[in-house]
Amino acid sequence: MGRVQGKVALITGGAAGIGKAAAMALAKEGAIVVFTDVDDARGSETLAEIRNAGGTASYHSQNVIDEARWQEIVATIKAEQGALHILVNNAGIGISSDIFSMSYADWQRQMAINVDGVFFGVKHAIPLIAASGGGSVINISSVAGLKGAAGLAGYCATKGAVRLFTKAVALECAQAKMNVRVNSVHPGIIDTEIWQKIPQGGVSALNSPGIPAGANAIDANLIAQVGAPLGYAGLPSDIADGIVFLASDESRYMTGTELIIDGGMTAR
Ligand SMILES: NC(=O)c1ccc[n+]([C@@H]2O[C@H](COP(=O)([O-])OP(=O)(O)OC[C@H]3O[C@@H](n4cnc5c(N)ncnc54)[C@H](O)[C@@H]3O)[C@@H](O)[C@H]2O)c1
Repeated sequence: MGRVQGKVALITGGAAGIGKAAAMALAKEGAIVVFTDVDDARGSETLAEIRNAGGTASYHSQNVIDEARWQEIVATIKAEQGALHILVNNAGIGISSDIFSMSYADWQRQMAINVDGVFFGVKHAIPLIAASGGGSVINISSVAGLKGAAGLAGYCATKGAVRLFTKAVALECAQAKMNVRVNSVHPGIIDTEIWQKIPQGGVSALNSPGIPAGANAIDANLIAQVGAPLGYAGLPSDIADGIVFLASDESRYMTGTELIIDGGMTAR
């Protein structure tokens, strides 16, 4: 019997990185996994991997900034699975730039994916979760939603927004007796491809004065040697373990709170 046996879970940005690890872990623990992404090629690969491992999953193409698509995805889940219990708002991007050179287009794009996407997910999926008897919503924030970071001000703004949005939605759900818990997860430096997408210069971001200027932002482990007290980067599965905990009834008395998985980054 898995820890989320028979629950229906929707994960955004599930083709790669943390979202993929969450999709695989939830499927391993017995969930019926529906995951979405903009990267359909990777989505198909991940789908095959989950099924080969014995999991139950389906993949849909979805850009989280498209509200109409959110409505379609939720309607599809209702029609095909008849219920929804777990939502992992994971899709996100990181744009590093000093704030004075950041274009408004980049600011808006990052806000749209990291914040509007979470708003749409909460707005359109929670009613189905409540109608299914309740469940758990997990919004992926970051240590950058807890601490400021030079070079990542725009990203910090999005992740700080996710943190407090999560708490307010948790209170609304509690007040409405929806039986829906809403929590945020705050990863530290996790070894995923997001680091290859962040241009050099954003490394100071990690509140780690010891990182030499011009350090290669591509190698999460190198950054973590200085940035994370444990001295190495986390794995996507380290975050997935926290997501499974929050998705399962093991966390039944937790709502509106923050699960920090950061190798000690925020301890100092
Ligand atoms: N890796 C880290 O160190 C780290 C640390 C803190 C927080 N996070 C957060 O974790 C989440 C996942 O990050 P990751 O490291 O796995 O990144 P990743 O780049 O490896 O994976 C992100 C996935 O989201 C998808 N995606 C991007 N934009 C999308 C959109 N508009 N709609 C749907 N899907 C979209 C990508 O195609 C990709 O498959 C993000 O919210 C990120 O901000 C990551």
